[in-house]
Amino acid sequence: MEIYTCLFVFCCFAVMLCMDRLYASKNNILLKDHSTENRAKRTLSGGSYCRLRGCCPGRDDGCTFLYYARNATCYCDAFCSSGPPGSVDCCPDFWTVCRGHPITASSVLAGCFKGGRYYEEGATIQDNCNSCKCMSSKWNCLEETCLVQPNLIKQINDGNYGWKAKNYSQFWGMSLKEGFYYRLGTFPPSAALLDTRQVMENLITETDFPEFFVASYEWPGWIHDPLDQRNCAASWAFSTASVAADRIAIGSKGRFTDNLSPQNLISCDTRNQLGCRGGSINGAWSYLKKYGLVSHACYPLFWNQSDPAACGVSSVTDAAGKRQATRPCPNALEPSNRIYQCGSPYRISSQETDIMKEIKENGPVQAVMHVYRDFFLYKSGIYKHIRGTGGQLQHENHRRTHSVKIVGWGALPDANGQKQKFWIAANSWGSSWGENGYFRILRGENECDIEKLIIATKCHL
Ligand SMILES: *[C@@H]1O[C@H](CO)[C@@H](O)[C@H](O)[C@H]1NC(C)=O
Ligand SMILES: *[C@@H]1O[C@H](CO)[C@@H](O)[C@H](O)[C@H]1NC(C)=O
Ligand SMILES: *[C@@H]1O[C@H](CO)[C@@H](O)[C@H](O)[C@H]1NC(C)=O
Repeated sequence: MEIYTCLFVFCCFAVMLCMDRLYASKNNILLKDHSTENRAKRTLSGGSYCRLRGCCPGRDDGCTFLYYARNATCYCDAFCSSGPPGSVDCCPDFWTVCRGHPITASSVLAGCFKGGRYYEEGATIQDNCNSCKCMSSKWNCLEETCLVQPNLIKQINDGNYGWKAKNYSQFWGMSLKEGFYYRLGTFPPSAALLDTRQVMENLITETDFPEFFVASYEWPGWIHDPLDQRNCAASWAFSTASVAADRIAIGSKGRFTDNLSPQNLISCDTRNQLGCRGGSINGAWSYLKKYGLVSHACYPLFWNQSDPAACGVSSVTDAAGKRQATRPCPNALEPSNRIYQCGSPYRISSQETDIMKEIKENGPVQAVMHVYRDFFLYKSGIYKHIRGTGGQLQHENHRRTHSVKIVGWGALPDANGQKQKFWIAANSWGSSWGENGYFRILRGENECDIEKLIIATKCHL
């Protein structure tokens, strides 16, 4: 009888202590005794918990083993076994490691786990755009917003937004800030540029145009595919050179079909321009008018890696009043250092039909647009910014300006049978991005300000 009372009292005491610990240690998830879970955990740490952690005498709420990947805690202190038999919170090897031995002061082995691997205390790892350091057995991660957010990709691809997203390996590991800083590079248009007189027609209606128009079908072989600016924030130079090259081919009726050199602009148009740290499109057009550019073959991208800012070739006026290159091509394999120039740029009105008319009659146009974080992930379809995907960045701070080349338009029924009108535009993130380097974006609604500032020029040679 007395034995039973004793047992009963002991049990009550143990349960009280257990409750006490549950209450005292916040956020601890007790190790559940599911055999599958234990097996999974055992593979994580090779079955060593208290063997790594050390055994602690008495009650020591810090004497735990934390599995980062499973978000679970178990104990290696003597207290864990003081409850009823099969107490829930001892580490699996507590019984073999700590019970066989006299319990010693802990020889603490700290460290962290990630993806089933053990890392020593102080180790750093990269988790997408954030580096994490193992401190006191916990990962301490920076909390930058990453450019590629897997849950945003999932949201877009699971949703019915009219376009699909992709995890681009070239963006993985970059923060959103770095994406904005390195992958765009067009200064917001100046008030003077926005005040430029707009070419207006107004007399035309949409039905005067074909439903579908692409510059490269209209002028085969004369329209230049997108280049890759990589981490050089110079979309100002890429969009300008590309629009000018297309218009030179069209204006010369195919006599000159060279692509123009954005590197020439980046390295030589340095007045109020920041090269790979951004520039203005009006500055680029002024340079093209005054000095002109050599071809992309003559002055390829990222040519002088040791000093990319050194201007490789410029131009001077010869006796006949024509601009001539100051030097042979930086790329010695290209013999022609011909200088190409265009006239003054002009602004097209933001009317959809005015933009269409300009493209159909004279070729691709330059457009300045807002880039939001979801745009980086665009893979295919008709892009429309998905509101509320700014993450932690709010309002104005979650977008930047960029410039691109619009090459045509079209319309397609969406999933609900509604007609969706779109522009077809060339980006400068290489052909692996989007639809072979191009993207389609909603037309007629000034999506991302794409219709706000449209620039073109005449290039007659
Ligand atoms: C671990 O679990 C706690 C408590 O439920 C939770 O607050 C925490 O966010 C989890 N951590 C991870 C990395 O899942
Ligand atoms: C995204 O791509 C990167 C690099 O290719 C890869 O390391 C990462 O695991 C991918 N992320 C997801 C969620 O698929
Ligand atoms: C690269 O720039 C450096 C420094 O301006 C110059 O000395 C060198 O000749 C350039 N190299 C080429 C291939 O243009």
